[in-house]
Formats: sequence, structure tokens, C-alpha cells
Amino acid sequence: MCGIVGFTGKTSCCEFLLKGLSALEYRGYDSAGIAAVQADGFAVRKAVGRIDQLREEVEKNPISGVCGIGHTRWATHGKPSLENCHPHFDIDRRIALVHNGIIENYAELKAQLMEKGVSFVSETDTEVVAQLLAVHYENDMKTTLLKVLGMLKGSFALVILDRCAPDTLYCARSHSPLVIGVGQGCHYVASDVCALLEYTRNVYLPEDGDIAVVTPGSTVFYGLDGKERKRVNVTISWDTSAAQKNGFDHFMLKEICEQPQVIADTLAHYIDSADYTIRREHMPFTPEQAKQLKELTIAACGTAYHAGCMGKALIEQFAGVRTDACVASEYRYQTVVEQERNPEGHVFLAVSQSGETADTLAALRKAKQLGMRALAFSNVIGASIAREADTVMYTLAGPEIAVASTKAYLTQVLLFEILALDLAHLRGKISDEELKDALKTLMSLPRQIQSILNQRAIVEDFARANRACHDIFFIGRLMDYTTSLESALKLKEVSYLHSEAYPAGELKHGTIALIDERTLVAAIATQPQILEKTLSNMQEVKARGAYLLLIGTPPQTPIEGCTVWPIEDAPWYTAPLLATVYAQLFAYYTARQHGCDIDKPRNLAKSVTVE
Ligand code: AGP
Repeated sequence: MCGIVGFTGKTSCCEFLLKGLSALEYRGYDSAGIAAVQADGFAVRKAVGRIDQLREEVEKNPISGVCGIGHTRWATHGKPSLENCHPHFDIDRRIALVHNGIIENYAELKAQLMEKGVSFVSETDTEVVAQLLAVHYENDMKTTLLKVLGMLKGSFALVILDRCAPDTLYCARSHSPLVIGVGQGCHYVASDVCALLEYTRNVYLPEDGDIAVVTPGSTVFYGLDGKERKRVNVTISWDTSAAQKNGFDHFMLKEICEQPQVIADTLAHYIDSADYTIRREHMPFTPEQAKQLKELTIAACGTAYHAGCMGKALIEQFAGVRTDACVASEYRYQTVVEQERNPEGHVFLAVSQSGETADTLAALRKAKQLGMRALAFSNVIGASIAREADTVMYTLAGPEIAVASTKAYLTQVLLFEILALDLAHLRGKISDEELKDALKTLMSLPRQIQSILNQRAIVEDFARANRACHDIFFIGRLMDYTTSLESALKLKEVSYLHSEAYPAGELKHGTIALIDERTLVAAIATQPQILEKTLSNMQEVKARGAYLLLIGTPPQTPIEGCTVWPIEDAPWYTAPLLATVYAQLFAYYTARQHGCDIDKPRNLAKSVTVE
């Protein structure tokens, strides 16, 4: 969603602000703006639409200044417009600020300010904070900020400029991410490390409730009690090229093609290939804890939820532990059943690429409040979910820029494979030999994924041939149904085509009425025990005129007119990952056929940091 950048140094801030905002474009936005402190006040440029339009504005009317802030806005309070676009100011333009998150009590605060005669130019919750800071200004911005933060309810990352301290950025965070980069005689601020990679990898990760006073030469942290806090800077391992397209037309295709590498990286982190054992130091359960584990609840959103559904199947089948996969936005409001009030042996697991998804974070907090041990899968070091969880397993997918999640999903499912096998082994469900064999099977994944990627022209041809198709159903059973869910989500988010996933056996209970000769039905069929059943369902839809695609085990008796994308030599637990790669490519090439904005699909944001 929204993105924040800030710079203070000895050189012009403008270049970093614009480049930093471009690096955050992938998060989704509909307007953008920057402000810099100049001798005669704030210089401000804003544009509705893309960063390129903002850049044109700046080229037409250049701005100077060595300390500034910038923002990409994804509209929540008020439509995309110049008035609503950040930065926002107080009436006298002494204070400028950018904000991510939502100020939940803004209406009440706004009414109080209006009673005092303050007038507003925007419909945003953010402007309320700028006006509040001005009205309550006392001594200096740090003191004022401490006072005003106590009045705010909701989530926020704020970066503030005060004309009284022209080289200083005042930052505050509560449930919304912020990173501070250390440069040579300068400091950078951003809502996401991707904006900083070209400039520095030496960063501070402020914690919830931190205030940071950032000048060219230092960053000093304070708590809400006003006392100084010690924070240690860390080095981020992601490199610049990981956040660039490197010759690919889109980040989505680049990230699909990176999967052999990121799967290999994740395997190397968790598995010792010298003797095919799991590296215990990276696993969340001790042998004792694994034996005592009675139940696992997984909560996540979107694609990460689908990974959670895969996790449920893997953990139940391998380790025999009862597992629930929940949509986080539902879980957070669900009735707490008696069993959860006594969470002995009941563990919670949040799955999130960004580690910042608001609903997943709320689900994790609820589980912790109930006394459960909270685990997390995160792709981002230091993200809120990673910090608040008791134990984190990291996916080593590198930065995922395309809004459609691809490589993060595969690494999340891989983590579930490793976790399920580890639990199964520790609980005595599989022997040392069986564990080694399964780990060797996982090690084949990079090669198998690569061989699918090598045939991507076939998928592209199919997408071209079927570009007129407007309704696409994915069907499958058990894990294949989960792959269907993920395949349908991927297709609809990047191509805007109507696509749905159904459990194959459920079609004839209603949905089969929609099938006609204009419908494509794609069956995912990798699970040996129900293969024949899914093939029968394919015959049923074929009889009603649908045209067919099968991703999975080629049928012994070919189905006339059915295109097959084969998956061979993969057992039940790795075949779904391979089927997903075909589906990702299909979504990508279909979206290309339709000329869609693949990396930044309409209405979508990469990181959903509001409810
Ligand atoms: C996936 O393609 C989506 N864009 C979306 O469903 C995403 O997976 C979801 O918002 C969860 O994000 P997270 O993994 O960062 O928590």
C-alpha cells in the first residue's frame, strides 16, 4: 500500500526521494508527492497517477533542499487527488508530514480541531496529525510528538519535517513498518528496505513505539516515555539486482524464473545436503515440543493462506497433527472456543511474505493473547510479524516486487514440507531413512522447476490460442484443490479474467450449470489416490462443451482434445509445487495477451497494511 521515503544529508534530497518512490511503486498507489525544506519554506510537488508524472512536475519546476520527504498514496480516506496526496501540512506550513496506516480516531480529532478554528484542505486522516502537531507545538518537535502520539489511535508510520529544525526528520512508528538507512554523511528513511538497496544496506529497524530523530550524522531513538533507547543497526543481505528486472519484461516473470534459485537457497538454509538432515538450529520445535504438539492453527491472507492450506495437508499427512488453516481476517474475529482458552499443546503459525499484513498481524496478536505460542513464516527480516512472533522461519525468496506472489508462495510451501517432515520424524512417524529420502526428493525441486520453465513457450502458445476465453475454472481434489485456488487467484489478479476454483467433486452440485463451450476447465491432477475421480469430472465437463487443460499426471487413456502439461517423477507432496509453476506461467502469459499492467494490477497493493 502507501510508501514513505525521507532523506537528510548534505546533497540534494530530490534524486533519492524520486528513486526511492519508484522502488516502492510495486506496493500499489494512485498519487505521489514530495516536499523539501528550502530557505523560504517547503517546496512541494504532487501528482495524481504514476511517479513519472511527479518526475515531470519536478523537471518542470525543480526543487532544491537537502532534507525532504516523499510518499506514494493508496487512497483510503478521500479519492486520489492533489489535495489528498501527501505530504500534508498544518495551516501555517511549519510542519510537513507523510503517513502510512490509518488514524482510527481521526474524525473525532478533526472535529475538536475544527471547533478551535482549524480548517482542513484534504479529506485525509493524515492531515489531522499535521494540524494536531501545530496546535500542540511546545518547545520542539520531539516533545510535541510525544504529546500528540498519545492522542492517536490506529496504526501509523510517520515522517515529519519541522521548519524549525531544517535538517531533521522526525519518525514514529506503531504497527506500520519503517526502516532507517545509514549513508555516508546522510540518512535515509523508507517504509520498505527496497527503496534503500541502491544506497545502503546498513539499516536500523525501529520498533513499535519508537520515535527516531534523524539528522545527517546520527539517528537517536526514544521511547514513548521520552527516554533514549538503544537500537542496533543490521546489514540487509538483499542486493540491488534482486529488486531490478534484469532484462525481464516484468518482475512477475523474473520472479517465476527465480524459483529454482530461491528454492535451492531455502533448501540450503534448512537442510544439510552432506548427510540429508534438517538443521535443528533453524527449526521451531525441539523433540520434546514436537511430541507435545496437539494442534496447529495457521492464519494468513490470499496466496499465503493457500500456502497455509498446503501446510495443513502436509502436516496432517506426514506428522499426524491436527491442523487448521484460517483466513486471518476471519480468524481475528472468530469466537474463541473453550479449547483455545487452554492452549496447552496448541501452537499458532502466521504466514506472510511481507510480514506486515494487517489481518495476519492481528490474528497473531489474538493467538498470543490467548496464550498460544506464536510461530511465523516471513520473507522480510525485522517485519512486524517476524518481530512479534515467538519464533520465525524465514523464506529465502529475496525481495518480491510483483504484486502477484509467486516465488514467496513456493518457498512458503517448501517451509511447510520441511516443517511437516521434521515433525513427522521427531514424533516417530517416519524413520531416518524415510526422512532422508523425502529430503532428497525436495532437493530435486530446483531441477524439476527449471525443466518446466524451459518449456514456457508451450504455456505462452496455449495462452495465445485461448485469449478469447472469459471464464476459467480450476478444479482439483485435496492438495490439487488448493493448487486450484492459488491458480485461480493468480489468473484473476493479473489478467482480470473471471476464474474460479472448485473441488472437482463439487461442480455437479451447482456450478456445472455455468459450463458451456466458451469455458476453459483446467484440472489439477497430481494426487495419485484421487486421480481417476478428477479424470471422471473432466469427462463430465467435456460432455457439456468445455475445453480442457490438465496439469498433472498424464492419463493412461488420453482425453480427446485435452491439452496436458505433464508432471512426472514427483510424489504427492512435491507435485503440487510443480503444478503451481505451470499455473503461474499461464496467469502471466494470459495477462500479457490481454495487455494488463502485470506487475501492478488495478486496485491491488503488494502489502495490505490496513484491514
Ligand atoms: C498474492 O498474489 C496476493 N497479491 C495477496 O493475496 C497476498 O498473498 C496477500 O495479501 C498476503 O500477503 P503477505 O504474504 O505479504 O501477508
